[in-house]
Amino acid sequence: MGRRVRLGLAGLGRMGRLHAENLVRSPSIELVRVVDTVEEAARATGEQLEVEWSTSYEDLLQDPEIEGVVLVTPTALHAQMIGQAVGVGKHVFCEKPIALELEPTARAIEAAATAGVKLQVGFHRRFDPDWAAAAARIRAGELGDVHLFRSSLRDKRPPSIDYIAGSGGFFADVTIHDAHRPPPSGAQPMAHPGRGFRRLGGRLHATVPPGLPPRARGVRRGDT
Ligand SMILES: NC(=O)c1ccc[n+]([C@@H]2O[C@H](COP(=O)([O-])OP(=O)(O)OC[C@H]3O[C@@H](n4cnc5c(N)ncnc54)[C@H](O)[C@@H]3O)[C@@H](O)[C@H]2O)c1
Repeated sequence: MGRRVRLGLAGLGRMGRLHAENLVRSPSIELVRVVDTVEEAARATGEQLEVEWSTSYEDLLQDPEIEGVVLVTPTALHAQMIGQAVGVGKHVFCEKPIALELEPTARAIEAAATAGVKLQVGFHRRFDPDWAAAAARIRAGELGDVHLFRSSLRDKRPPSIDYIAGSGGFFADVTIHDAHRPPPSGAQPMAHPGRGFRRLGGRLHATVPPGLPPRARGVRRGDT
């Protein structure tokens, strides 16, 4: 096996802890340090996984041992933190999305390209065998022209209201997984005929009408 890539991770909330646990299990990665501005979060994960921990992102940026950073911080911080990392020559894996607006997204991508480092965004469905197989079948014309794409997502539990407030809203945060790349066969981007939330069979259902503003919010509490 080749040498292990040395990474640091920032943001140890819901998703960051999962990434950290996966990274320490990977034979090709050495997780050098984890950081979270909440000391208890950083300490708990650092001690659990037996890696260095701190409360400052600067500690990742200034560490010459660290080749790349994994950003699992709130969405509003991604673009700035990408800029800081690529500015000191570090590769970046950033959870989705880079930003809620086009301009900072484009700037972050441009900064990574200029710095000559890799920037990957956490669109994990690109690597999901079922999604890849479905996309291949559509591309091969097995399903004819695709006019409607219907996606059904389930989380174990709803995110906190604080999280939703900073994520761009439930619709933007979640449906980005469906919309992040052009649909195959030249089909138009998704149209969602419904509106808002409905209870069906005891579950919470959300539909996204066309033209919904990206920052629209729409989660009702206690509904799953
Ligand atoms: N790909 C997916 O399926 C998926 C799923 C869930 C979340 N996400 C994305 O992951 C990101 C994080 O989501 P989450 O649910 O883990 O959020 P979260 O709020 O649970 O966790 C964010 C963590 O970042 C920490 N933090 C805030 N500012 C920081 C800073 N400057 N430096 C270091 N740490 C800092 C917070 O203290 C918190 O622990 C979001 O952008 C979200 O869109 C992606």
